[in-house]
Amino acid sequence: MIKVAPSILSADFTELGRDIRGLKENGADYVHFDVMDGVFVPNISFGLPVLKDVRRITDMVLDVHLMIDRPVRYVERFCDAGADIVTVHVEADTEANTRRALELIRARGKRAAVCVKPKTPAEAVLPFLPLCDMILVMTVEPGFGGQSFMADMMPKVRAIRGFITEQKPGCELEVDGGVALTTGPVCAEAGADVFVAGSAYFKAPDKAAFVRAVHAM
Ligand code: DX5
Ligand code: ZN
Repeated sequence: MIKVAPSILSADFTELGRDIRGLKENGADYVHFDVMDGVFVPNISFGLPVLKDVRRITDMVLDVHLMIDRPVRYVERFCDAGADIVTVHVEADTEANTRRALELIRARGKRAAVCVKPKTPAEAVLPFLPLCDMILVMTVEPGFGGQSFMADMMPKVRAIRGFITEQKPGCELEVDGGVALTTGPVCAEAGADVFVAGSAYFKAPDKAAFVRAVHAM
């Protein structure tokens, strides 16, 4: 079954508690939490204090996507603030520091993941695969919700699914950006098994039906 990870970047922040509780009521699997620093991406979102408060009101899996420069400096603090999965970008630091970040996340007993931007090739995940519980493939340029899905990322999703099957069965494969009921089927077909959905989930007239439709893909 495909898992659904609604991105709360598209939530109504004046009603964040309501929207977070709604995720569980509507059957979503993970809470996708997009952290942006205005350096690694040209936008700023939210960070540690918000994560701590979200942790207090939900027992759902908190899937934290760090779009920040040199995340090794912060991963332990995100683990301690309540993240269950911490994702770092391979483009955000050196290979040694990315490896170190993944080790620190795992040492905290949390799930570790790497993410690749659209221009980064599939092979970039290979040095990190043994340390990863999930791989995230961006299907838009990171930084903003509501962008158009890049169907040309599907060969990369398929290639990474191949690496996972050969080297790390059990590792999840997540797609993020423009994923909706229209674009989901090709992601599933390419081998993705966790769908981040920001606008598609929060704009759905019936959010529970949206989640059920993705589960059935
Ligand atoms: C983009 C973020 C995404 C974003 C997805 O940089 O990583 O998680 O919120 O939003 P949609 O689903 O609207 O493209
Ligand atoms: Zn994200």
